[in-house]
Parts: sequence; structure tokens; C-alpha cells
Amino acid sequence: MDRSKHLLRLRDWDSERITQTIRIAIRLKNEIREGKPSNCFAGKTIGLFFEKASLRTITSFQVGMHQLGGMPILLDPKSIGIDQRECVKDIARCLSRWVNGLVVRCFKQSLVEQLAEHGGIPVINALSDDYHPCQALAFGQTMIEQFGEDLRGKTVVFIGDGNNVANSLMELCAKLGMNFTLACPKGYEQKAEEIELALPKFKENGGKYRQFNNTKEAVVDADILYSDVWVSMGQEEQKDEKQSHFLPFQINDELLKLAPAHCKVTHCLPANRGEEITDSVMDNLQVNLCYEEAENRLHAQKAVLWQLLH
Ligand code: CP
Ligand code: NVA
Repeated sequence: MDRSKHLLRLRDWDSERITQTIRIAIRLKNEIREGKPSNCFAGKTIGLFFEKASLRTITSFQVGMHQLGGMPILLDPKSIGIDQRECVKDIARCLSRWVNGLVVRCFKQSLVEQLAEHGGIPVINALSDDYHPCQALAFGQTMIEQFGEDLRGKTVVFIGDGNNVANSLMELCAKLGMNFTLACPKGYEQKAEEIELALPKFKENGGKYRQFNNTKEAVVDADILYSDVWVSMGQEEQKDEKQSHFLPFQINDELLKLAPAHCKVTHCLPANRGEEITDSVMDNLQVNLCYEEAENRLHAQKAVLWQLLH
């Protein structure tokens, strides 16, 4: 399988392609703001297959496809019954006869991989248990809008679980020469193999990977703090155990005072206000860029479609 024909995880895309995608996203955003949307996908369709809940991703992919002149089709996982009613291979082969691309939110990364392998159409990972590449691209766009195109040496500090969002942000930072710091309770770090695969890219592009088991040391040189829920979709049974460990890993006004004065904050959303981030930080729109990032989901994903469906 040629992995560059899909977006299964950011590791599969090189730095140049990532930068180019963000440039396209910024251009497409400007086109919408100027009231001149492109009609490049007239006659094209994408299927949206979501096994997990979503507000931002499912809405922004539909709006984005519509803005580019194409049509999104919502597929119902219950009715399709993967591996119950039908095997993945047959579903992938049939879908590829009708739609031009597939956007998939699922539990197991192996599902997006299998759909890509058997389908013959571009597959976009819209979040799996392991990765969230679309979120990372929208974050990259937000960083470039905030700090300029050369992000080398900027420091992203992720405060929370070493989860899917952390993995994709780490991959983005490694590719664009940024530093990535994870601050989490002991035992909640990213998998060692994820870090090992990113380290050579950090080295090649001049960035650094660091881990702390406290927030104070982690934030001292941060350009941006990144937040996500402590308990990801599918981990609900770990809620009580996780909450007790993660309580000190909250982004609040006291923590922000320990970061440099220019430091910004963002969150992939949805947020559990009062847990991983306080109301006061969420509502401080001088500092919190999460709504810009949410807006950029729309444009970054259109840029992904542009790269893959053309
Ligand atoms: N950040 C994000 O992916 O949001 P949704 O889960 O609402 O799509
Ligand atoms: N880590 C979170 C991200 C939600 C967008 C989850 O997987 O639920």
C-alpha cells in the first residue's frame, strides 16, 4: 500500500507535504473569507464513517466538502455492521466503487489501515485510539497563523494523557522542527515505540522531545500549552482511576503564571471545564486559541481532501 495516498497517521507524510498542506489550508480559508470558494470537487463524493461521537470533525468535513463543490455522505456504522454483517474487505471494495474518499473515525487503528489497504480510494483517519492527524494539521495551521511559517524551535507542551492527540502533535512537531514536551502522571506516557519512531525526525529537523511528571518544570519555556480530556472515548471505565492521577495536571491561571508571558493555550475540544482546564483559561480569548483551531479544522481538512482527491 502507498501510504502517501491516504492520511492514516502523520508519520506517513513528509515535512514538505505537511507544510504544503497547511499553506493550501490558509489559501482555502482566505478564499472563503473573500467569498470565492473553489468548486474543484464538483461531482465528487466522500463517505463519512464514524464509530465514535463527534461535533467538530463530522461537521467540518461535511461543510468542507460542500464548500469545495462536492458531496459528503454519512454512513451508518450500525447498519453497515463491520465484521458482523460483512467483512472489512468487501465493505472497502464496494465503497470504493461509489465514493472518491473515505473519512473514518474508529477505535482500532487497524480498521483505517484495512479500509485503505482493500479499498483503492484515499482513506483519512478522523481519529482512532492511536492518532488524530487532522487535529494536528489544524493545530499546525493555527501555530503558523500565530507565530509565522517558520515554527522551528517553538515549544509545544502537552499537559495530559499520552493519547491519540499527543501522538499526532508529537509527529507534527518532529516533522516541523518544533520541541514537544509531554507532562503527565507516571504511567500515562506515550508508548515507547511511538516516541522511538519520532526521535530520528526530531533530530533531523532540530526539535527536541521531553517528558515530565509534573507541570511546573514542563511549562517554563512553553510557547503554547495543549490540553485534552484525561479520559478519551472508549476509556470510560478508567475514569475514576485516571481522575485521581490527573488532578495536578490542570491548565489554570496559576500554571499560566509559571509559563512565559507570551505563552498561548489551546485544546482540541471537547473540554471538560474544571478538570483538565479551568473556565477562566477557556474563556480567556486573548490566550486561548482553541476556537481558531476548531475553525481551522475546516480548512486543514479541505486541504487534506485537496491533496488526496485531486
Ligand atoms: N476535536 C475533535 O475531533 O472534536 P470532535 O470529537 O467533536 O470531532
Ligand atoms: N483524546 C480525545 C480526543 C477527542 C477529540 C478522545 O480520543 O476522546
